[in-house]
Amino acid sequence: MISRVSKISQHVAKSHVRTFSAFPLPKVFDYETITSNLSVGDAITSVEAAFEKLAHGKVDVPLPMHIGVDETENAGPGDCHIKGGYVIGTPTFTVKMAMVSFYKNLDKGLPPGGGIFVVNSAVDGAPLGIFQENRYMTDLRTGAAGGIAYKYFRSQTPGNDSVGFIGCGAIAKVMARAAAEISPFKGVAFAPPGGGAEQFAAEMEAELGLPFTVVESAEALCGASDVIYTQTPGSSPVLEMGWLKPHATIIASGSDQPTKNEIPADVLAASKYVSDLTKQTLRVGELRSAIAAGTMTEGDVYAEMGEVVAGMKPGREGDELIVVDLTGTGAQDAAIGQVAWDKLSKL
Ligand SMILES: NC(=O)c1ccc[n+]([C@@H]2O[C@H](COP(=O)([O-])OP(=O)(O)OC[C@H]3O[C@@H](n4cnc5c(N)ncnc54)[C@H](O)[C@@H]3O)[C@@H](O)[C@H]2O)c1
Repeated sequence: MISRVSKISQHVAKSHVRTFSAFPLPKVFDYETITSNLSVGDAITSVEAAFEKLAHGKVDVPLPMHIGVDETENAGPGDCHIKGGYVIGTPTFTVKMAMVSFYKNLDKGLPPGGGIFVVNSAVDGAPLGIFQENRYMTDLRTGAAGGIAYKYFRSQTPGNDSVGFIGCGAIAKVMARAAAEISPFKGVAFAPPGGGAEQFAAEMEAELGLPFTVVESAEALCGASDVIYTQTPGSSPVLEMGWLKPHATIIASGSDQPTKNEIPADVLAASKYVSDLTKQTLRVGELRSAIAAGTMTEGDVYAEMGEVVAGMKPGREGDELIVVDLTGTGAQDAAIGQVAWDKLSKL
């Protein structure tokens, strides 16, 4: 049998005696085209399939890369996060760059960040499309993971249909849209003063046609909610063990950096803990905080979400506390990249 290396050497040798035309220029898609043609509903099926493939070891998903731009006379401050992946068997692979925390932009009337996805052919390696999505596609794939968590882990006992949102910004909206794609619910919203809870509730109620109420505290929200989405950017917990219903499902997505934390270590330890990708939640998710506090070890991870999607392990089993820790994986980026290319390249 000829090894992959010798096959590559034969091809390289041939390439020295031939000339090639360049690949065509990639298509460029602007923000307006992307936002008016892609929805979280488009993302859910392919992100769910990517989680299933992840469980079968069929996704190449490297750990994220980070480029820090220090503040100097000429640049910064700012950060660039790079993620990507390939879902084996699909015709494209994706790399994305998210630029964040360029705070000086605000003085110039510019947003503090932006983002692009580069979708490439997995057949011949050609760059196919550049999507100037300014985080819109990241938000969609994040919401899709939240919708999938809702599908597999919520209590389906009749009447357990209240869904709370702690933190009412951009991610809360995609979580609400994704959950509504799975099953109708009664929404409950909480954010600190100035955090946009009223606006979020009014906008979601109008858009989704579901009832939303705003409450005065995270404690009131937990008491009223069967499922709790948390999407806050801080570094201290936003809820307490004693506030939760026994069958609560917490879907936490705020922690995507080693400085962040939303869920207390005792809640994590008491829960059936599910990660999106354990090698990542160990570093940047809620699991990192619980291990640092000494209440959990990696051995306490019940499952990665893909294992439940793939039917390898059961999801909810009766009245139990479940935490789903979503840090955002390259598998999701690859999945939304594929969907975006499939849909927008045909326009
Ligand atoms: N896991 C992922 O895949 C993923 C993807 C994108 C963003 N994120 C993370 O999600 C978080 C939210 O992002 P966003 O774009 O929605 O931010 P945002 O600024 O639009 O909204 C944040 C919301 O949280 C509220 N909030 C802040 N502190 C709170 C507290 N202690 N209790 C209750 N509410 C509080 C704010 O008032 C606001 O309503 C960030 O940490 C972001 O990095 C995660």
